[in-house]
This record gives sequence, C-alpha cells and structure tokens, in this order.
Amino acid sequence: MVKPTLLAYPRPPIGRGPQRIGSSAIRDLLAIAQRAEVISLAGGLPDPDTFPTDAIARATAELLAGDPASVLQYGPTDGCDALREVVAASAGADPAGVLVTSGSQQALDLVARTVLDPGDVAVVADPAYVGALQALRGSGAELAPIPSDEHGLRVDLLADALHAGLRPKLVHVVATFDNPTGATLDPRRRVALAELAEEFGFWIVDDDPYGAIRWRGTAPTPLRTLTDRTIALGSTSKVLCPGLRVGWAIAPPELETALAIVKQSADLHTSALSQQIAARLLGDRQAMGEQLDRLRRTYRARAEALGRALERHLPGTLAFTPPAGGMFLWCRLADHVRPEATTTELLGEALDAGVAFVPGAAFAAGPGGHDRHLRLSFATGAPAELDEAARRLATVLR
Ligand SMILES: Cc1ncc(COP(=O)(O)O)c(C=O)c1O
Repeated sequence: MVKPTLLAYPRPPIGRGPQRIGSSAIRDLLAIAQRAEVISLAGGLPDPDTFPTDAIARATAELLAGDPASVLQYGPTDGCDALREVVAASAGADPAGVLVTSGSQQALDLVARTVLDPGDVAVVADPAYVGALQALRGSGAELAPIPSDEHGLRVDLLADALHAGLRPKLVHVVATFDNPTGATLDPRRRVALAELAEEFGFWIVDDDPYGAIRWRGTAPTPLRTLTDRTIALGSTSKVLCPGLRVGWAIAPPELETALAIVKQSADLHTSALSQQIAARLLGDRQAMGEQLDRLRRTYRARAEALGRALERHLPGTLAFTPPAGGMFLWCRLADHVRPEATTTELLGEALDAGVAFVPGAAFAAGPGGHDRHLRLSFATGAPAELDEAARRLATVLR
C-alpha cells in the first residue's frame, strides 16, 4: 500500500472570510511601533493615566462581595438591565432598544451581519474607520465609498449617487470627531443625511466612541434624534478604558431583537462583570463628569502640544485642522515636501527615525489612496514626547 504523503492529505481548507475582511494595517503597524525606541503616534490608544483604576477596583470588590452570582453567572444576551437603563437614559432612548456589546467593534460586526446580505451595498466615508471596513466586508456586502472632507461625509455626493441609482442598505459614519479625519459632520449635512435615509430607506450607523471628548464648541444634534433609521453605537473604551470591552448599539426595538439573535451566535452575552462595573461608573453622574473633564483637559493639552510641535519643527509642511475633540490629527503633506513619496513609503524612514504614524492609504475605502495624508494620534504621548516625535518626523520630512 502507498504511504500517504502530506500532499495527499492536505490540511482542511479555510474559507474566504479572512481574505475578504483583510488584516488591519493599523493593528499590524501597532506591533512594529511597540518597539521601545519608537514614539508611536500611530495607535489610537487612550492614555492609561486616565483609566479610572480605583473606581473599577472598588466597583469590582463591591459587586463580588454583594451578589457574586449576578456578575459571575451567564446573563441575558441583550445586556444587563442596569447598564441598558443607564445608556438609554443618557441618550433619551428606550432601554428595549439598547443592545450591550463586547466593545462597539462587536456592534459594528453584528449590525453588518444582521442588516446586510452578501451582495448588498453599504456606503462608507472615504477615508474610513478601518474596523468598519473589516466588519462590513465580512458580511459579504459591496462597499460604496463616498468622499468626506473637513465637515464630514459629502452628503451632496451621496445624494447624487442615490439619484443615479445607488441603493445602499446602510451608511456608516463616524459623525463626531471622525477616525481618521477628526471631522464632525456639519449640522446641515446631518439633516440632509437623515432626509435621504427616509427617502431611500437605508440605515445610518452613527459610530460614536469619541463624541464625549469635546473641549471646544457645542455638540451637534445626534443623528438618532433626526431619524429613527439610525443605529447609534457607543463605547466605554475611550471614556473609561478599552479593557472592559463594553459598547452598545441603540436601535429601534425590533432591530435590537434581530441584533440580539445574531449576538447569541457570537458570544451569548458580554461579560456580566464588565457590564455591571460600567453601569456603576457611567451611572455615577458626578464621578463621570469629573472623568470627562479630566479626559478633555488631558487630550486638549496634548492636541495643542502636538499642534505647536508641528509648527515649531515642521513649519509649512503639514496642513491640518486643529481638532475640537477626539484623538486624531489628519495631516496632508504640502506639495513641495518629498513630492516623489507616498506616506506609506515614508513610514519606513520614520520608523528608522524613531517615530510612527499611520499612512493615509490604511484608511482608503475607494480608488484614491490618501497617499499624501497621515494620521497622527496625540492621545498617548505626554507633551514633551509629542515634541520629540515632531522633531523626529522633521528629520524625515525636511
Ligand atoms: C470609530 C470607531 N468605532 C469603533 C471603535 C471600536 O472601539 P471599541 O470596540 O473599543 O468600542 C473604534 C476604535 O478605535 C473606533 O475608532
């Protein structure tokens, strides 16, 4: 008898899912940027000094001492009542429409799998949040990129595309302090987008982890108050800490029920312990107000420090809009700076110089590569470090 060879018995194949989703260039880059000698402006990691560690320790001890079964047992898929109520109250929503998720990234994935069938169309802003591209691609939907500018999604171009026959089932936006552009969707564009959602019958996914980190100006009208065709996503990751892995979707209750069915297949439910900790912290209005003030002060100081450092070390090199909140600066290289190079090509030199950024191409959702853009995060570095990062960047961009 012929001995079986490895070739005759190949490993079972894997499906097309991973290829369709694609690895996140940012997560790959984060691994390189971890090197001690590199100052990373690449990740959007919140500053660990802002994590409410003591409050989390206290809440955990109290929960375990009080009713351990309620936080260590299996729980409902939709989420624990206490957290759903806190989230609903702060948004003026019906708790029945709140689905608690394992980070808002899971909410994106569940929305994509619930609303979209393979071959359906989903509109994304271009440039786009990479995690949204992955989640939407994972559903087998076709992505239709619509450009955005410093006032958010070009809703006029979306209207043109709709009138020309585009029929998306959903439109994803990070309407407040976008990732990567930092832009906030203009009030008039919000109204126009809501009207289009009603006229053409699509869902708006308003992905909002950064809206609470505002240090200038007033918050624009939330999209979900303009149309009930909105699915509003929120998260504790940027306002408390990412490690809790607590996020949510606020949707009309019928859609919440459908999302919860899909969540059952994903993870049964989000960690009950994390949810109860989040409910206590978010529900303590005074402590939460102090936490948000601290975040706004910290990130404002950093955004301004990075802006000053770029002016000092790289005058006339990078064009950007000073942010009113969020965590990112979206910068365009002036035409005369390294005109032959894309920011992807410049990244290697930057890493050699000890500084990391995310090249614009990582966020490209359409044919334009954002090849002369880069995203800088000011969230994780202290002002002196941001200054040094700009000095290193200048050695590459001079
Ligand atoms: C726009 C946007 N949405 C969603 C997420 C996912 O965050 P999380 O799953 O931690 O809530 C992120 C993370 O950076 C983000 O930038």
